[in-house]
Amino acid sequence: MTGSPLTSEQIEEMDRVQRRYFNENVDLFEPPLPEGVPERLAATANAGRIKRGQKVIDVGTGTGILIFYLLKHGPSQIHACDLAENMLCRVKEKYPRVLTHLCSVKELPLPDNSLDAAFINACFSNILDKAASLKNLHRILRPQGTLVISHPLGKEFIVELKKHTPFYLDLLPEKAEAKELLDSQGFEMVTFRDDPLFYLVVAENRKDRL
Ligand SMILES: C[S@@+](CC[C@H](N)C(=O)[O-])C[C@H]1O[C@@H](n2cnc3c(N)ncnc32)[C@H](O)[C@@H]1O
Repeated sequence: MTGSPLTSEQIEEMDRVQRRYFNENVDLFEPPLPEGVPERLAATANAGRIKRGQKVIDVGTGTGILIFYLLKHGPSQIHACDLAENMLCRVKEKYPRVLTHLCSVKELPLPDNSLDAAFINACFSNILDKAASLKNLHRILRPQGTLVISHPLGKEFIVELKKHTPFYLDLLPEKAEAKELLDSQGFEMVTFRDDPLFYLVVAENRKDRL
């Protein structure tokens, strides 16, 4: 079971610990990227099926590693949210036109049906309130909009990371668990890829279903 066993108070406390950690370690999340990661980030951006002029969000953007690859698809707006203000400052320095939101994804205050695609890259393990977060993304994404959940170093990387990370991390879900979680929040899983160094789940927003 990969779902967080934490209470809402524990989640709030863990998010405070994460915010402090990521505010103090911005440079750790800057390039150079490990071999093969640029190609897997390009594949992640492709999985969003973004058409020119569409609106997208990078959830848990960190230093905005994925944004470079999203820009290649010609979106009209890129939003980025993160818990840590120093991460968002770095994103603004690199990409002044990106619209930043300092909040947890579960509280992201964008309008209903306002985005075409959402990306959660190397961040799904950090999101401890997954049901509330997916529920909010389901509201914000348009019908048939795309949700991409990915990790460019794979599921096993999180198993190792958990051993020396000063806050709680969920493991990335197996196929059945990912499907159940997505279904419960109105998403239809269309791709599940679990390669040793690449985790990629693509889902479609099915607003007609709930
Ligand atoms: C490991 S970093 C990954 C950053 C980036 N996506 C990348 O690929 O390099 C995870 C980021 O997610 C942010 N984060 C964690 N939980 C979050 C949440 N519930 N909502 C929004 N951001 C969150 C953290 O502050 C951190 O900057």
